[in-house]
Amino acid sequence: MGNNQDKFEKLKNYRKQALIGGGENRIGVQHQKGKLTARERIDLLLDKDTFNETGQFVTHRSYEFGLEKERYPGDGVVTGFGKIDGRIVFIYSQDFTVFGGSLSEAHAEKIVRLLDLALKNGYPVIGLNDSGGARIQEGVVSLGGYADIFYRNTLASGVIPQISAIMGPCAGGAVYSPAITDFIFMVEKTSYMFVTGPKVVKTVTHENVTSEQLGGSEAHSRKSGVAHFSSENEITCLRDIRKLLSYLPSNCEDEPPFIAYDSGDEIRHSLDKIIPEDSNLAYDMHEVIRETVDPESFFEVHRNFAGNIIVGFGRLAGRSIGIVANQPSILAGVLDIHASIKGARFVRFCDAFSIPLLVFEDVPGFLPGTEQEWNAIITNGAKLLYAFSEATVPRITVITRKAYGGAYDVMNSKHIGADYNYAWPSAEIAVMGARGAAEIIFRKEIEGSENPASVLEKRENEYNLKFANPYLAASRGYIDEIIFPSETRIKLISAFSMLENKVDKLPRKKHGNIPL
Ligand code: HXC
Repeated sequence: MGNNQDKFEKLKNYRKQALIGGGENRIGVQHQKGKLTARERIDLLLDKDTFNETGQFVTHRSYEFGLEKERYPGDGVVTGFGKIDGRIVFIYSQDFTVFGGSLSEAHAEKIVRLLDLALKNGYPVIGLNDSGGARIQEGVVSLGGYADIFYRNTLASGVIPQISAIMGPCAGGAVYSPAITDFIFMVEKTSYMFVTGPKVVKTVTHENVTSEQLGGSEAHSRKSGVAHFSSENEITCLRDIRKLLSYLPSNCEDEPPFIAYDSGDEIRHSLDKIIPEDSNLAYDMHEVIRETVDPESFFEVHRNFAGNIIVGFGRLAGRSIGIVANQPSILAGVLDIHASIKGARFVRFCDAFSIPLLVFEDVPGFLPGTEQEWNAIITNGAKLLYAFSEATVPRITVITRKAYGGAYDVMNSKHIGADYNYAWPSAEIAVMGARGAAEIIFRKEIEGSENPASVLEKRENEYNLKFANPYLAASRGYIDEIIFPSETRIKLISAFSMLENKVDKLPRKKHGNIPL
């Protein structure tokens, strides 16, 4: 029986054992690799002393390959809830010191319970992944566990924000849980994700690649776009997760947090100086964003991927907004496959979580060429069109310069449901650029002339005068106001405030069929 004191001692000892996971030696190895332990990560991520651990004493139930001799409380994943900036979040953190963080039936059940609890109660889930994949000794049982997680990730999608950080290996089918979640963070040099590792790649395609080249943070944040964030180290990664959450509501019924803001002079004269006199010259759209949103509030997503479009969160007079902007200083801001996918996914996230959308537009069109056509720019460009069209959150566009062709329609035009659209006096809203237009419609005249260059220039100027401005679009009501750049911030604050009570509904349906 024992007295209470003994029972308390027993609990203390159990807890102590659980806290060291796979033991001090393995913790040492983890540190030597430049990685923190599962619990150290939780401590850094959450507000101090707010963590409540669930399933601390869960162990695996396997008797295969001598596993019965090795049981660790928690079975390789620390799960529970705590607070970030005073708001509740659920968290699971895989413990590489226990069987390499591999996923057993019991380990999966802990994550499943956590996802169920988070979904029922409407709180975000953060998964810190550091795992050798399926627990090999358990076979198909662990595959079932993965599928149980994938299923819940899918059900929770659009209901609660789901964030994944990759802080070690993440291979095989295990990558699909993070892929279903809303945002993936990777840590430079210590994390990788791939469906099949370098050895299989060598056998199948005869390519020689390292894990880092194949699926490190560089590969996924720049080339594939699988990772939305690439962090220098685990500490900056965890800090950025906290920051990301500061823009998001806890669930799809909730409002994003409001950060108190001191209003002052909202005129930004610096914006009047951004657009170059020559409309073929580039400028940095980041400057436009930074000068428009609340100071220091822009938080870029997918910074290293498809730089010709910029997406990220910001605040306008204290309220969260999602920003989508063409970037004229990279590929002239053209829309290509990657930019379209990047933009579409971001727009859908914002719409799912009631975050109003602000678009800055300077786009010469879609990128031409066989590479783009054969890789389905049609289907992929349609994703962005579809995403904007079905978004019911408040939506505003500011056309800073070029708005050409189909890209004009796609970039949150009023025709596809934008609520209030502005243009700067430098806006050029037309089917195409003046030179290209003149070359087509005056081709015969140009070819028949003794001085084709001067005819082309004359016709180009003529087209420019007629169409390279915002007034024709404004005369049709496609643009609500033509504003001085310096007024942009104050106008947007007023318009988003006017749209705060917007109610808009899509036709009743099971779900749409976005071009995938
Ligand atoms: C059981 C595992 C394990 C696993 C690692 N360990 N992965 N135990 N199942 N999947 C154990 C190791 O035996 C070792 O135990 C400890 O974890 C640390 O592993 P090391 O190899 O010493 O670490 P390291 O050198 O850093 O290498 C890490 C690694 C490597 C690259 C992840 O362990 C590895 O390749 N593991 C196997 C990966 C794999 O093939 N997984 C299955 C993928 S298929 P000791 O006791 O020696 O410390 C899959 C399907 C999912 O996951 C499908 C979902 C649909």
